[in-house]
Amino acid sequence: MELYLDTANLEEIREIAAWGVLSGVTTNPTLVAKEYAGRGAKLTEEVLFAHLRAICEVAKGPVSAEVTALAAEAMVEEGLRLAAIHPHIVVKLPTTEEGLKACKRLSSQGVKVNMTLIFSANQALLAARAGAAYVSPFLGRVDDISWDGGELLREIVELIQVQNLPVRVIAASIRHPRHVTEAALLGADIATMPYAVFKQLLKHPLTDIGLRRFMEDWEKVKP
Ligand code: E4P
Repeated sequence: MELYLDTANLEEIREIAAWGVLSGVTTNPTLVAKEYAGRGAKLTEEVLFAHLRAICEVAKGPVSAEVTALAAEAMVEEGLRLAAIHPHIVVKLPTTEEGLKACKRLSSQGVKVNMTLIFSANQALLAARAGAAYVSPFLGRVDDISWDGGELLREIVELIQVQNLPVRVIAASIRHPRHVTEAALLGADIATMPYAVFKQLLKHPLTDIGLRRFMEDWEKVKP
């Protein structure tokens, strides 16, 4: 399973990319807004596109950039502009009627599409039929309403395997490291997670204690 960062923060992407384990990045309007909120000047398309280009260069892998248009025609126009930013851009579309229409048109033109806000196996099936390259089921948001995000992912992975559909599953809305283990065991192709969860994946108190003890013992005899 590949590991993606779910962020629009360049520093976070630089840091995790340096570990050598980062395969891509996903963004969404909320994450981009977080980067520009409170900066005073209004975010222009030029600034946004330069930011997305920089993310592509640091991530060195697929970068999902989400459209903000809601009608198919406008989604296609926006998607084509986003796709022209950098070869790594994957156009992210919401799983709605308009999103499906836009997905079909963009994917027929060779643009890679990630269908987002997936909360059922049938939505994933529709997205795959519309030519999506990726589907993003939201595990955490399902768990948030006391349902089972793991079960949603299990069904989608199985459906895609049984039907032999050419689409990759991105386990999204990851809240904690157990979600990552669960996604990997269930056969997700990718898990996209916030920076804090990426850091938690590595951290273990016994690793810190063990290393400290090795260093203390070594200090006593080192040449
Ligand atoms: C997916 O690509 C989304 O950006 C993301 O995973 C949403 O996660 P959230 O539920 O933590 O906002």
